[in-house]
Amino acid sequence: MNGAGTPRVVVLASGRGSNFAALAEAVDAGECRAELVALISDRRKAEALERAHARGMPTAIVPKAKGEDRDAWSERLLEAVRAHEPDLVVLAGFMKVLGASFVDAFARRIVNVHPSLLPAFPGLDAPGQAIAAGVRVSGCTVHLVDRHVDTGPILAQAVVAVAPGDDGATLHERIQRLEHVLLPRVVNAIGRGALVLDPAPRWEREGERAALLEAP
Ligand code: GAR
Repeated sequence: MNGAGTPRVVVLASGRGSNFAALAEAVDAGECRAELVALISDRRKAEALERAHARGMPTAIVPKAKGEDRDAWSERLLEAVRAHEPDLVVLAGFMKVLGASFVDAFARRIVNVHPSLLPAFPGLDAPGQAIAAGVRVSGCTVHLVDRHVDTGPILAQAVVAVAPGDDGATLHERIQRLEHVLLPRVVNAIGRGALVLDPAPRWEREGERAALLEAP
């Protein structure tokens, strides 16, 4: 935490970085109590890196080398993240599975956003999986990361109706609009101490939880 009790947040992102941008905008607008201290990517070409550079934020790239095992790569990533002494690590479209040592080092302090109503459709291309399954509603989930893929405790969810004619891309686009609201709200709730993560997620006041889940 910095002097004002604001959590230091390292963001991990692999792609476009629209969730990072939404988080940064909310921080700048005073709507999210967090200090974004670094953005780290596993992909050199991630647009998220450019967005972070534009903000003057420190960045790092830790690609998984061909043939490198996950634990070795994860250790290198852990080192890069630790250098920024974060209170919270936010996975904003980070598409690699973290090794156990990383997850354990930041136990109950890693938050992920996923484009489905978990536990439905974990893993890759969740919106495409939802379309293939023929569900009528989907949405997004913000959850804590544990040692498995998309199974950690759920912090918040928001629902989207599947429209006739939707494909994975159109559904994903509408889900992302909700992600851009929900993720900053959850980080803000953590930053303000309304949502306590340790030893298990707990809302200080039920009213705050209700407000978080109000339709954006
Ligand atoms: C987001 O929709 C996020 O939910 C998803 O990647 C997208 C990243 O978009 N994450 C996962 O699927 C993780 N399993 P962005 O780069 O524009 O924020």
